[in-house]
Amino acid sequence: MLSKILITAAVLGGVVRGVPLRERRQATVPQFVLDYAPLVWLHSQEAYLPSDISAQLANTKPEHEFVAVAGPSPLTLDNLNQLNSPNTTYLTSTVDITTNPAFLNGVKPDASGKTNDAVSAAIIVNDHGSGNVDAFYMYFYAFNWGGIVLGQNLGNHVGDWEHNMIRFKNGVPDLVWYSQHSNGEAFKYSILEKNGLRPISYSGNGSHANYAIKGKHDHTIPNLNLPDGLIVDNTDQGTLWDPTLSTYYYAYDPAASSFTPYDSSTPVNWLNYTGRWGDEQYPDSDKRQKKFFGQPKYATGPTGPADKQLNRTDVCPSNGNECIHRGILVPRDL
Ligand SMILES: *[C@@H]1O[C@H](CO)[C@@H](O)[C@H](O)[C@H]1NC(C)=O
Ligand SMILES: *[C@@H]1O[C@H](CO)[C@@H](O)[C@H](O)[C@H]1NC(C)=O
Ligand SMILES: *[C@@H]1O[C@H](CO)[C@@H](O)[C@H](O)[C@H]1NC(C)=O
Ligand SMILES: *[C@@H]1O[C@H](CO)[C@@H](O)[C@H](O)[C@H]1NC(C)=O
Repeated sequence: MLSKILITAAVLGGVVRGVPLRERRQATVPQFVLDYAPLVWLHSQEAYLPSDISAQLANTKPEHEFVAVAGPSPLTLDNLNQLNSPNTTYLTSTVDITTNPAFLNGVKPDASGKTNDAVSAAIIVNDHGSGNVDAFYMYFYAFNWGGIVLGQNLGNHVGDWEHNMIRFKNGVPDLVWYSQHSNGEAFKYSILEKNGLRPISYSGNGSHANYAIKGKHDHTIPNLNLPDGLIVDNTDQGTLWDPTLSTYYYAYDPAASSFTPYDSSTPVNWLNYTGRWGDEQYPDSDKRQKKFFGQPKYATGPTGPADKQLNRTDVCPSNGNECIHRGILVPRDL
């Protein structure tokens, strides 16, 4: 009860001096997190659309090194964290993915931008206090199609988590992060392409890397030593996705590394799952697998939202790369 009273006091009175950060957190999603939420243009030829997060559990089985691991059955967003063990768990497609099971294709947003019957995003708010709020808009796709490199299709994997992050100061967006492959780009909000207040994110065809401008984007696969320009993400204004229309909302407490849903009926335990959201990389001996310049055709699925550095110092994750606050809209690497 005490915490409820304190939360109410915080909502009514803004920052309450002397009340721990956790108690100060608002009981409802800050309106500005919704008002400024990015809109995502999916590619016109996108075959792997945003997906229902729980459908991934219904269409996979937990494995480690391709051997079944014990866990609750059925797996749900409420019990997924029970799969945490010293060994990494891989949510492995129950059907051979080379036969294109339908769940990989996700759900096409309707005319309003909604993925019907599919909760395909998670919005996570980290209130640093003093008016500094980071909102992470996490996008989920059941499959990542890695594209074509010198005629070879490489870098596919089951499960794909991508994100934008908006850093707010006193309810006003300052900077926006766009995740792209192993890194990404940050831009000043003021210079971004927008629909009303909402910044636009262009999702790369298949890879779902997020870009601030449409067109082609060169990128390099880490450790793949090929000339620039061979590996390209294509973006265009295919289908507009409004992730806020079918999403879960959470507050994040960095001190406890814990998540609290704004709505108590929202599942939360899945955010504590430390394993992977797709199949483990198939061994070279698997006849589905191929390698080209050391890069596999089928790679390992990703970890979840909790692994995206949710308590950042700068708007970029800290990974050794410089965090450039871009003030002009230019293609990557310029
Ligand atoms: C988009 O991705 C699909 C596979 O998902 C591929 O068949 C198509 O050629 C791609 N188009 C472009 C322009 O990259
Ligand atoms: C971890 O994986 C190894 C096989 O690599 C297996 O022998 C061991 O039993 C597993 N441990 C747990 C706790 O699942
Ligand atoms: C979270 O980030 C803030 C701001 O960078 C920092 O002061 C704080 O120590 C961090 N908390 C944790 C638990 O790392
Ligand atoms: C999730 O992890 C956090 C941090 O370790 C912990 O405080 C919380 O109790 C966990 N929740 C569940 C349901 O395991």
